[in-house]
Amino acid sequence: MASTKERLLEKRKKRIRTLKGLILSGGKGSRLRPFTYTSAKQLVPIANKPVLFYAIEQLVECGIRDIAVVVGDTGEQIETAVGDGSAFGARVEYIQQDAPLGIAHAVKIARDYMGETPFVLYLGDNFLLGGVKTFVDRFRDNGANCQILLHPVNNPQAFGIAEFVDGRVARIVEKPASPTSNLAVIGIYMFDHHVFEAVERIKPSGRGELEITDTIQYLIDKGLDVRAEVLDRYWIDTGKMDDILEANRMVLQSLAPSNRGQVDERTRVYEPVILEKGAKVVNSVLRGPLVIGAETEIVDSYVGPFTAINHHCRLLGVRVGGSIVLEHTTIENPHWPIEHSLIGRYVTLRGGQAVGGAYSLNLGDHSQIEMPEG
Ligand code: DAU
Repeated sequence: MASTKERLLEKRKKRIRTLKGLILSGGKGSRLRPFTYTSAKQLVPIANKPVLFYAIEQLVECGIRDIAVVVGDTGEQIETAVGDGSAFGARVEYIQQDAPLGIAHAVKIARDYMGETPFVLYLGDNFLLGGVKTFVDRFRDNGANCQILLHPVNNPQAFGIAEFVDGRVARIVEKPASPTSNLAVIGIYMFDHHVFEAVERIKPSGRGELEITDTIQYLIDKGLDVRAEVLDRYWIDTGKMDDILEANRMVLQSLAPSNRGQVDERTRVYEPVILEKGAKVVNSVLRGPLVIGAETEIVDSYVGPFTAINHHCRLLGVRVGGSIVLEHTTIENPHWPIEHSLIGRYVTLRGGQAVGGAYSLNLGDHSQIEMPEG
């Protein structure tokens, strides 16, 4: 005979089998200027696909069909890119957050959408290679009130950090000045309805935000079942250019080659190379892993490993590696190779122009250019 406690646990497990998703795509993105002046940081592409799309796909892979996306100023762009979710096999709705008042504030305004259904909260700028299915399945089965995922980091001052006592998570601190552990709470969380009580009770932090870390601390202090698991796979918060380039490198390494474009007989290809529809390569060297976007033209160029060139670009006489180039950009005959770079949309970069031995630049605010010694 099952005990009352076992029966209650069984009942709770059954209740949480259906999950919803909540993806956060608001916020400011100040660390990614100048991109974020004109575009949402969650739409910066990794291997030619917006980082946000990976989050949606990973939730769908867990069997989650109902997903709400919290949006801010860049809501229109996000909605244009994601639509009603049918392209992903999901039903996507949007929740407007008028100001970035914190991750827990975004949870608070999603209360009506979630009802009593447990959910996975996924920060739209987090990237996890290999998806979340294992962890979500475990949460579905174990009846916990909250499940967090941890990853060791070199700079714990930049994250929510978990502290353990007797093998259980006891304290979560947001961006501690003197961290007592290097285990960052990553931006993928699982909650049941108790989280809505927590977000009502906590107060804004010193930076004026309702913090998700305070929310989890509230659940711990209430004696609820908060579980933590240390991740065994690659994870990154793509808030900065270096992190995006690194995520690009990791994803390109994991993709299978494919060719829906055209390569002339003078071009040498070292796989893995992905050529999207209508890509055209003439008299060039492609050294994978790399991806060339739809309708992009590469002429007399060398494209090196870990490079993603997006659609409708034109590269002529260029050596480029370890970089991301966004759509509709033209690069012609630069004097030096391009490495470790993130180049935006509709950029024109032309070398060999007769402008009197000087640089002629038209750069937006917060652009950064590193020049080699002359
Ligand atoms: O990446 C993991 C870290 O994410 C955690 O370790 C921290 O505990 C957590 O607070 C968060 O820290 P960040 O400083 O990186 O959060 P950020 O402000 O970059 O926001 C994360 C995502 O949530 C981003 O896609 C923007 C979105 N967001 C953020 C806020 C504050 C919103 O949609 N609304 C908001 O009000």
